[in-house]
Amino acid sequence: MFQNVEPTPLDPIIRLIGIFKADSRDNKIDMGVGVFRDSNGNTPIMSAVKEAEQRLHDQQTTKTYVGLSGDESFNKHITRMVFGDADTSRIRAVQAPGGCGALRVLSEMLSRVSSDSKVWLTDPTWGNHYPIFQGSGFETATYPYLNRTTKTVAVDELLDALSRRGPKDIVVFHGCCHNPSGAELQPEHWDEIARLAAKTGFFPFFDLAYQGFGDSLEQDAYSIRTVAREVESLVVASSCSKNFGLYRDRVGCAMIAGETSESADLACAQLLSTARSSYSMPPDHGAAIVGMILEDQELHQVWERELDGMRRRILELRVQMSDKLRTRTGHDRWDFIADHRGMFSLLVLDDEQVNRLRDEYAIYVVAGGRINIAGLRDEEEMDRFVDAFVTVTE
Ligand SMILES: Cc1ncc(COP(=O)(O)O)c(C=O)c1O
Repeated sequence: MFQNVEPTPLDPIIRLIGIFKADSRDNKIDMGVGVFRDSNGNTPIMSAVKEAEQRLHDQQTTKTYVGLSGDESFNKHITRMVFGDADTSRIRAVQAPGGCGALRVLSEMLSRVSSDSKVWLTDPTWGNHYPIFQGSGFETATYPYLNRTTKTVAVDELLDALSRRGPKDIVVFHGCCHNPSGAELQPEHWDEIARLAAKTGFFPFFDLAYQGFGDSLEQDAYSIRTVAREVESLVVASSCSKNFGLYRDRVGCAMIAGETSESADLACAQLLSTARSSYSMPPDHGAAIVGMILEDQELHQVWERELDGMRRRILELRVQMSDKLRTRTGHDRWDFIADHRGMFSLLVLDDEQVNRLRDEYAIYVVAGGRINIAGLRDEEEMDRFVDAFVTVTE
């Protein structure tokens, strides 16, 4: 069976994790993997999560299946978190195994209902978007997103490209905190995108993996809420891996906004049938924790405070890095780092620069120059990064 199997290249980020692990230098810095780290270099379990886990442990009486659509309290609260106070009568939510699970079941569902559509991804985008959408049978293409010189969104090119899309085009957007670039569309751009979607009829597909890591839980949902008001239908894949720190518990939600309540039901039935034929029922533990936190006023407050703290740390590191780079280089070429949002910025480095950072300075960044700014523990690591970065780039 396996003797003639072709070798498969490993996802570059997964490969980087392995190389970092094997590096024996004790001063190594991991700015590659996309997890939040605190100032001690840890990815902590949030205290609201710990408390909810304890309550769950004490209260849970069964481990029987949760059902195909998962935890209904979780689904209700995530819908509210994402769509705000929009009318939910035409919105359906299905708990999924992580953001990736949500992306995949939504993509599979769309390939059942519109197999001749084409999926448009931002250039650049998170590497896993390609196998997820292509694996569901879609042809993929890209639309302009990042101006690689200014490291801001190439707004005019993006809007021009979207104006040429139509009903057979599924356009994937990052709801906030674009991965890998860190460059963000502003509210007025989302207003324009919403108008374009309504006019041309392309189908918006939102990937929302970092709600709460950008400006606030509410502001980070501006994109989705604005577009949802203008178009007849869209989907959202949301993840609780980062904003609840529940990476390994695999918590996500696949959401469908249909033209009517009836069409939302039909699409949801297809979604559930897709889930049934792959993982069947979603895992319970993480979603039960999120549902409990969002239901309980006190836990909710504790969680939001901690999330605010995580976001503040990221924003402070951004300002610190851009200030230090301006001081060191005497120019403003790196000021964009403070304007970016989320954990990532794409610094646009070539292979030689990325390899020098790793080999000479024990600093790991993803190929192309994506950094996770939360990978820096303290000012000493920040200074080491800035020194090394200036040396390899200037
Ligand atoms: C853009 C984007 N989408 C989705 C995900 C899904 O994350 P998970 O499946 O761990 O919830 C990630 C995680 O890195 C991401 O960066």
